[in-house]
Amino acid sequence: MSDPGDSLPIRTVPTRPFQDQRPGTSGLRKKVRLFQQPHYLENFVQAVFDTVGPVQGRTLVLGGDGRYHNDVAVQVILRMAAANGFARVLVGRDGLLSTPAVSCLIRRRKAFGGIVLSASHNPGGPEGDFGIKYNVANGGPAPEAVTEAIYRRSREIRSYRILEAPDLPLGEPGVHRLGETTVEVVDPVDDYAALMEELFDLDAIRALFAGGRFRMVYDAMHAVTGPYAHRILEGRLGAPPGTVLHGRPLPDFGGGHPDPNLTYARELVARLWGEEAPDLGAASDGDGDRNMILGPRFFVTPSDSLAVLAANATLVPGYARGLSGVARSMPTSRAVDRVAAALGIPCYETPTGWKFFGNLLDAGRVTLCGEESFGTGSDHLREKDGLWAVLFWLNVLAVRRQGVAEIVREHWARYGRHYYSRHDYEGLDRERAEALMEALRKRLPALRGERLGGREVELADDFAYTDPVDGSHTEGQGIRILLEDGARIVYRLSGTGTEGATLRVYLERYEPDPARHGLEPREALAELAALADAVAGIRERTGRERPDVVT
Ligand code: G1P
Ligand code: ZN
Repeated sequence: MSDPGDSLPIRTVPTRPFQDQRPGTSGLRKKVRLFQQPHYLENFVQAVFDTVGPVQGRTLVLGGDGRYHNDVAVQVILRMAAANGFARVLVGRDGLLSTPAVSCLIRRRKAFGGIVLSASHNPGGPEGDFGIKYNVANGGPAPEAVTEAIYRRSREIRSYRILEAPDLPLGEPGVHRLGETTVEVVDPVDDYAALMEELFDLDAIRALFAGGRFRMVYDAMHAVTGPYAHRILEGRLGAPPGTVLHGRPLPDFGGGHPDPNLTYARELVARLWGEEAPDLGAASDGDGDRNMILGPRFFVTPSDSLAVLAANATLVPGYARGLSGVARSMPTSRAVDRVAAALGIPCYETPTGWKFFGNLLDAGRVTLCGEESFGTGSDHLREKDGLWAVLFWLNVLAVRRQGVAEIVREHWARYGRHYYSRHDYEGLDRERAEALMEALRKRLPALRGERLGGREVELADDFAYTDPVDGSHTEGQGIRILLEDGARIVYRLSGTGTEGATLRVYLERYEPDPARHGLEPREALAELAALADAVAGIRERTGRERPDVVT
């Protein structure tokens, strides 16, 4: 045990509030250079501790996705946690922990809460983004009442507390003292791997890989899941070395954009569309909570993935007893709703963002949940979980001994296909984007009962949600227009961007007839895309001819 001494001086540093520390969909995200301003990180961390406290005698979990500034921020937060009286801090080796691993550690070690340093799938490096998010004792993101209280506190803060101490060595697991606080450097993978062992039939997956008949490629995108994937896929499951691509976490993600989609996971996509494609392709984002699933020349939309996992859950040991219910964010396609109806279990529709699943999971109302934005998860944690979703698919593949595309096509044949696509218009002028949404909101009453593309508008509203567990109410969560044939258009502004505004347009069309399941989503949704533009005047109001990213 190294010991910098118990009597390190605690400094109370005077500061002035920053006006822009309101957490968004997933914590506070800003450009790295904003976080590098003197006192910026410290103010926010003190606001968190003041809001969630008293923290004396408690345990905090701390780690991040390894992006630029992670190393600096971890040391600052350790000194502040000690000065604020935490009894213990569990920090990942080298300051690394995936978002699901933080959630896992909070729950397994019964910690008071945790801090995740990440801007998820946003680019890193000195010119990129940084972020900080607080998770509560159930392992999930702080609910909105807490994040709003943190924001209020950040606007009145006058000082913060920090210990004067040298940096702690975080390169090896071990225990250190920092003033009165015990800092335990933990292996980032151990607890998480133990949990996966409890949920999945890893021996069956190992048998799938044995003999080299089944092959996969997992793209860690130079982000945090590299060490997890090496250990679990290539170690425990015996997949050959080279299964994990871009497995070394880098502060700038190797210059890439650590977002697992068809645009950014370029090399992975090339392999799956190339000669001798592997049987499964998968990728995770910066902090390891997102996932993308591919078969040879086949993309599984995240909405379909959720539905397929729900329909096959009882094949997996951790879910063999069945599902209590499922939940999806509002813009996510309604494919999972059909599975829930067939199983006779409830399906909840929540606003965008994982924090809205927490109460439903805690209350045991849902077992699986997911978002169209490559997020899937279950009651094993209170975050979405990228590698977990990949293991879930592997377990299903090991039991069914069918290909990815075959499983999905059979699913469509049974439940019908939800053609789905999201169009993102990035870096828009914020005022213009807000004006577009405002104009849409004003049109809602007139839209109801109108006909669009020959179909009646069944519903047109601005999505609001009342949490069935604690009664909390949230408004303004996205405009949805539902047509009588089940087609749907949703518009909302992103709550995670750091520059200007991002308009997201979500298109969905239901096709029950298997004879018509072979279209490209672009074709299948072309008419709806044109309607979406006509209703909102996207081209006219934004000056953009087409979306920047289509997923
Ligand atoms: C985006 C996704 C949302 C997800 C969030 C955090 O938020 O759309 O589903 O929960 O990232 O990963 P948005 O930028 O749309 O507010
Ligand atoms: Zn993420």
